[in-house]
Amino acid sequence: MNKTLKIIGLFLFFIITSALLIFLLKLASLKHKLNINQPAKLTNISQEETKYENINVYTREERDNDGRSLLYVSYPVTENEAINLELKKKSQIFIDEYKTVAQSQEKAYLDYLKKTGKIAVSMITEYIQHFDVSFASDKYLLFVFDQYKSTGGTGSDDSISVLFNRETGKELALSSLFSTDNYLEILSDKSQKILNERMANEAKLLDFTNEEAKTQWLERGMEQIKAGTKTNSENFDSLSISDNRELIIIFDKYQVGPGSDGAVKVKIPLSEISQILSPEVKKIFEIRNTPPKENNPGNEGTEASPSSSIDCSKEKCVALTFDDGPSVYTDNLLNILKENNIKASFFVLGQSAKIQPDTIRRMVQEGHVVGNHSWDHKNLTKLSSEEIQKQLSDTDKLIKKIANYNTTLLRPPYGSYNANVLASVNKAIVLWNIDSEDWKDKDTDIVAERISQAKANSIILAHDIYPSTIEAIPQVIANLKQKGLKFVNIYELFAPEILEKRQVVRYRQN
Ligand code: NI
Repeated sequence: MNKTLKIIGLFLFFIITSALLIFLLKLASLKHKLNINQPAKLTNISQEETKYENINVYTREERDNDGRSLLYVSYPVTENEAINLELKKKSQIFIDEYKTVAQSQEKAYLDYLKKTGKIAVSMITEYIQHFDVSFASDKYLLFVFDQYKSTGGTGSDDSISVLFNRETGKELALSSLFSTDNYLEILSDKSQKILNERMANEAKLLDFTNEEAKTQWLERGMEQIKAGTKTNSENFDSLSISDNRELIIIFDKYQVGPGSDGAVKVKIPLSEISQILSPEVKKIFEIRNTPPKENNPGNEGTEASPSSSIDCSKEKCVALTFDDGPSVYTDNLLNILKENNIKASFFVLGQSAKIQPDTIRRMVQEGHVVGNHSWDHKNLTKLSSEEIQKQLSDTDKLIKKIANYNTTLLRPPYGSYNANVLASVNKAIVLWNIDSEDWKDKDTDIVAERISQAKANSIILAHDIYPSTIEAIPQVIANLKQKGLKFVNIYELFAPEILEKRQVVRYRQN
């Protein structure tokens, strides 16, 4: 009998616990439904000090709609009320947009829930604004805002810089950090080079099925870099200056690379762009212009050596050629060449000549040969005849205008040419037989070593866009002089013969 009672007891216990469990579950789900109708809200506001004197950070964090909507906004508060008002106004725009988006997103969420009874986990709205103090001086305040917006699984991340005059409280255009009108061109040019180089390095680490796939990948990337670094102020709306004196350009996601790269940063040492920085910025970061080389009076007498004095059919000649410039390093190279009384040949890009006309003028004045290297380093074999001619004539016209100089020599970018290129140009094509590969190894010793392999009649290829190359030149001069070689420009190397139009040369044939 005892056994029957036990079974009944157990049975009752099971029924009661089950009922209790069901009741609790119901209650929980009811509570959940209640929560949906009256969303839980959480707001946190705080103000804290930063490491900068008189700059605090205000933070506002809101969680709404049961955590489905998140707003996080931080912005600086300074001693200047006008600045604070402006920052608050900018942040309010961000907040207002969040409110509108979160509201409509929440409505869509509730509609979906009602219709399907399912919870859509991805329907979350997140608006996050962070800020950084880039630098703070008595006169300038530069802030960088990062605004991240995500709605229902898709998002954007934008970075933007805001500059203030700290005394007047007025917002300034970022161009106030610079002293010249062409600063965008310099920034564009520099960042393009850095990004292209980065991509070329990346290509070496990737596995491509074949050479063509690699070329295509590189070309696509370069196209995007070119578009994203075009000289408009929106492309360069996020600038910052680091404590170790570098200008940091932040390109938004997708601007210069695939989305997987996120925001892309390019750093340029301020010393490399001192010629475009405003006096105020130079003062703050103690950047001096590279002092002009003292003219050694003893050198002046020997300087003018007529080009005809060297006969390369009798003497051992070698021609130094530099491509892709002019760059901010070219002047240093010209100083070195001048000190050593050496004439070289520069194959310049029209787009770079436009930025540094003075350097082109100096090349011509100091007896160097200036040749055409296209306008913007396009692979000429991929262009139509008209496009090839435009690449060359735009560059020619510019050089004529700035230095009253006619170019007769072409070095096609990548040294690549085909029948169409030959048919489209009326210049001699100057290639090389000694390649410094200085783009690959930015190492002064390696570059100096490679160039020092040159023999009589060699044409040496180097690039005056890498400081490591320019640093290698004094060593190269010493090594080659020791071999009894004389440095000549391209005209001198082939004289007394004149290079014919469309003639392709890689070295002098004796
Ligand atoms: Ni080149």
